[in-house]
Amino acid sequence: MNLETPRPYASLDFTPEVARMTAAIHEKVRPVIPDLEWPVHAPYIAAINELKRQKNAVVLAHNYQTPEIFHGVADFVGDSLALAQQGAKTGADVIVLAGVHFMAETAKILSPEKTVLIPDPLAGCSLAASITADDIRLLRQRYPGVPVVTYVNTSAAVKAESDICCTSANAVAVVESLGVDRVIFLPDEFLGKYVASQTDVQIILWKGHCEVHERFTGKELRSYRQAQGDGVEILAHPECPPDVLAEADFVGSTAAMIRHVGEARPRRVVMVTECSMSDNVAVEYPDVEFIRPCNLCPHMKRITLPKILRSLQTMETRVEVDPEVGRRARVAVERMLAVGRREAQ
Ligand code: 13P
Ligand code: SF4
Repeated sequence: MNLETPRPYASLDFTPEVARMTAAIHEKVRPVIPDLEWPVHAPYIAAINELKRQKNAVVLAHNYQTPEIFHGVADFVGDSLALAQQGAKTGADVIVLAGVHFMAETAKILSPEKTVLIPDPLAGCSLAASITADDIRLLRQRYPGVPVVTYVNTSAAVKAESDICCTSANAVAVVESLGVDRVIFLPDEFLGKYVASQTDVQIILWKGHCEVHERFTGKELRSYRQAQGDGVEILAHPECPPDVLAEADFVGSTAAMIRHVGEARPRRVVMVTECSMSDNVAVEYPDVEFIRPCNLCPHMKRITLPKILRSLQTMETRVEVDPEVGRRARVAVERMLAVGRREAQ
């Protein structure tokens, strides 16, 4: 199957009917999508929204998806934790995960009876690729009895070897929920260091990194502050290196950053994270000026409207998890969901 050239769809013309059906969405995204592009996106948006109704499907979209997906076709948007929570409770028969593979796998782990589709199965993650189930078995031999806390940015097989999962929205709370002096924290070294800075629990680290967030530097943040002067707020994701977090005014998950903008309404803001998120949030807060360092996640960007449409038409690519692996992984994910969302700030 060629994933780059989707099959033409009979009704993909920008007709007056399509323009009418998508007018409200168009109005909303005008600040971030040029008018010239709308006739390209609108027919896909109309077709996807119609197919969702026909197939009792929902689209769950991560905060890093592009605005035409995030505002155009998503039924639920959010950070990794919110998508896992929504995936667990939706009544839909079909979940289309507009995000990366580990997010779709997490939805399947929590809802094995549902059809979970990923519009491009090659949408991976450098963190998920940095560790295997065998690595965890070796770590357990080296540190007998020390619990393993695993970031959700991992494969089902890795989750199955773990005691509990976490996301960036609850990593500190999850570590502290175990009531122990020491944990193995996998695979994000920088998130692990951030957790270590917020708790007395000793953290044994792994050297996985997010290829998007590891590129930011403290020097770059200082230059934003110098160029923008007072009144600029710098928000950073905890997957960034420690010198970046030291320069930031606020550290939190993607959802926490969005919430912070809504509550604090800074005049100017720099979101030190994946580039599309600023576009998505700028739509909601026209009074806030977003300075946009543009690091794109190549995996998130594999998901497009044509691929979402094709996914719903063909019901591919289905995400499957071995039932025994899924059962063990579900224990770790459900333990995390019981802790819920408790950010450090
Ligand atoms: P969040 O859980 O904060 O949305 O982060 C997910 C992710 O992939 C960040 O790079
Ligand atoms: Fe993975 Fe980083 Fe992309 Fe998130 S932004 S999916 S952590 S590579």
